[in-house]
Order: sequence, then C-alpha cells, then structure tokens
Amino acid sequence: MMAVDQSVHGVAPSLSAKVVGSFAYLTIKDRLPTILTRAIDTIHRNKNKFFEEYGEEGIQAEKQTIHLLSKMRNELQTDKPVLALTDDLQDTESWNQYLRRHQGPQGDEESVSWFKSPWLYVECYMYRRIHEALWLNPPISDYDVFNEAKTQSFFESQQAVMGLCTYLEGINKSTDELSKNQLLDNFNKLLLVSLWGNKCDLSISAGQKNSQKTSPLESLSSLQPFILVDDSNMVWSTLISAQRPGQSGKIRAGRVDIVLDNAGFELVTDLVLADFLVSFGLAREIHFHGKSIPWFVSDVTANDFQWTIRQTMAANHKWMSKSGAQWQSYLKEGVWSYHDHPFWTQPHEFCDMAADAPDLYATLQGADLVLFKGDLNYRKLTGDREWDYTVGFDTALRGFGPAPLCSLRTLKANIQVGLQPGQGEKLTSQDPDWMTSGTYGVIQFYSPKSEQ
Ligand code: F6P
Ligand code: MG
Repeated sequence: MMAVDQSVHGVAPSLSAKVVGSFAYLTIKDRLPTILTRAIDTIHRNKNKFFEEYGEEGIQAEKQTIHLLSKMRNELQTDKPVLALTDDLQDTESWNQYLRRHQGPQGDEESVSWFKSPWLYVECYMYRRIHEALWLNPPISDYDVFNEAKTQSFFESQQAVMGLCTYLEGINKSTDELSKNQLLDNFNKLLLVSLWGNKCDLSISAGQKNSQKTSPLESLSSLQPFILVDDSNMVWSTLISAQRPGQSGKIRAGRVDIVLDNAGFELVTDLVLADFLVSFGLAREIHFHGKSIPWFVSDVTANDFQWTIRQTMAANHKWMSKSGAQWQSYLKEGVWSYHDHPFWTQPHEFCDMAADAPDLYATLQGADLVLFKGDLNYRKLTGDREWDYTVGFDTALRGFGPAPLCSLRTLKANIQVGLQPGQGEKLTSQDPDWMTSGTYGVIQFYSPKSEQ
C-alpha cells in the first residue's frame, strides 16, 4: 500500500473496493462471493437434515434461505446499493441508522454500494445479511452455516491441542517452584502461541481448511523474525502493576478481558493463556468477549465457546480432559465469564464505541488489560484506514482507550501502523504479500494512562 500524505490532524480515508486491484477490491470481488457460495452449498447439503427435523417446513425454509443468499450474492457481484435490514432484531435499527448516515442528507441510496462504500462496512454487512436470511426462515433461524467448518478446524488441530494442554499441565504442576524468569518465559511463550493461533482463520482462506497441525510451541523461535512490533514487555508490566496486596496478605491480581477471534485452535490457545494467567496469579478474573451471531466464518459464538470446553473435557487425553474440567469450573466459579455484546458484530470502528455502545465501553474500563485477538479487531481498532505505516498506534486509535490494550494480530489486511521508518517499504520489497498473507504478526500495546 502506498504511503499517503496526511495532514497532522487528518484522518486517512477508509479502505474500500473503489481502489481497483486493492486487497479490499479483491476481497469483495472474489473472496466474499466464494464464502457466500460455500454458505449456500452448506445449507443445500443439509436439506435432508432439515426435512428430517422439520418436515416440509424445513424444505421451504432451506429453499427460501438459499434464494435470499443468492439474491445478496448477485447484489454484491453487480455492485448494487446496500439494502436496509428487514428482520426487526435488537440491532436492526442501529444497522439501518448506520446505512442512512452513509446515504447522506439526501438519502441517496445509490451512493452506498458494495464496491463504493468502506470495505469494513460492507464485509460486516454481508455477515449480518447472512444472519437475516436465516432469521427470516424459521425453523432454521438459528442454524450456523459456519458450524461445520469451525468444528472441523477443532478436530483437525487435535495434535496441537494435546501438545498445548500437556505443556500447560507441565507448568501448572510446578506453580510454587517457578522462578520469576521462568514465569516470564512461560508467559511470553503462551502469548506468542495465542498470537500465532490467529493464523488459523477461515475467512482469509475463504473457508479452505487451515487448522494447526503441529504443536506451535516448537515453531515459536522460527516465527520470531516475523513479529513486526513486539510490546510483550509492556503487557507483562501492565499485569504485574495490576497486582495489589489483597486481604490476608495475599496478592490480588487484575482483571484481563480477551476480545476473542476465531474458534477452533485459536480459541484453545486463548483458553490456555487465560488458564495460565489465573493459575499463576497474573489475573484474578478473565472476561471473554465473543460474537452474538455467526461472524467472519470462524469467529467464536457462545455455542462455539461452550462446545469447545465440553469437547476438551470429553477428550480421551488426560491433560486435555483435565484442562477442560478446570475451564468448566472457572466458568462455574465466575473466575471466567463469557459476554457477547451486539457491538462486536456491528460495522463500527472502535473509536465510535464510547458513543455507540457506552455500556460496553464502561465494561472494558473495568479491565486492567484488554487483549484484542486477530485481524478484524485490528482493522476496527485503527478504523480500517489508509494510514502511513509510521503513524502511531495511539493516533490510529483516535481516542479509543477504555483500558491498557494489546492487539495480538497476524496481518491479513493491508493496514499496519506503528512501524519504524522504512520498515514497511523494506517488507514490501522483500515480500509483496506481507500485509495480507497472515505470515507476519504484531503484539501492539497502548495505554491511555501514558496519555496523562
Ligand atoms: O481479508 C481477510 C479477512 O476476511 C479480513 O476481512 C478480516 O480482517 C480477516 O479475514 C479475518 O481475520 P481474523 O479472523 O484474524 O479477524
Ligand atoms: Mg476471525
């Protein structure tokens, strides 16, 4: 992406498919229709299941849903205007208000279309329309078209999951002997495992399988050169400074929120990191934030979250089932909690959260650290805009900062800020796809406290 000049206070333009040949253009032209076609095929393949479960009504619903998805695919491929939602759900009005804002004071419907509007908006909109197509067709309203892909990604990552749970058991056994350095070393390892777990995402692959085959612990050192920003030391010191002397002389750790990304192997890496933080007194509680509807193919829903813990518990692998049982009891005790605010499945840039979802912003202000997993969250943190590579992460956040935060992201979209002068240009000369292949990663930290 060429560096664009910005006035000091200027806000860079949004990435969009208006730029023919750009990654946004190729995503909307090729990848999104592929994802839609896979969704249609999945529904068609389950036709008999719908008939067995719901009889003729199920067949009607299957047919009508496919009709709605095919209609949307045609709108997308012929750059038709974005349409208002008609499903009268909790967030329908917020989506339609957002559309009207984009149409401007004249309400010019033609001006908001798949290739002319911001990429972030239309890509999020597509997943919300998939939800509408199902919702409008009971009895298959709550069918998750991406469920098969997510569960398959979990099953195909079993070797890596076993390796990770075995590693966790190894360090959990030695809770009292670990020196500070060993604690820090294990923290860094599990933070990296959670970062690289983000490579396993089915949206970038347009649904192609990309589960984790080998244990990620063995590849951490070979992946180190691909980390472009490494603020892991800031994450560690934020956790340590959140520890306070509690009652009876015990240390009381802080609260860590994890804004989740993908189900499957990536979710397991996040659960293992969360287990480690609690077991070693680096967090007293963990709030997980997932999606309230199926999203970007592999993103975690409440159903995926519970299913993954149940599956881990039921595994016939000693340390997997022990980990799963531990995670289940953390949830029962309230040490871990799962939340799915509708804001995470709306198109907003995070700098709008305080205005558009003040309740969620206030919730995040209660955390001592918020970890944002993955590429879409990074795009929303930085507004999915054509920033220069060297623009500061704080500048790109444009005032978003409910708490100290860190993005753990592998690069799958052509947006990256906070690099050193020349670093982006050097990467482009070495590897033209560095921004979108998922090969590179960042551990990028920001604290609002540093602004005071
Ligand atoms: O372009 C790839 C893409 O579809 C992006 O739109 C999105 O940011 C990414 O996949 C999803 O990746 P992640 O699961 O890491 O958010
Ligand atoms: Mg995702």
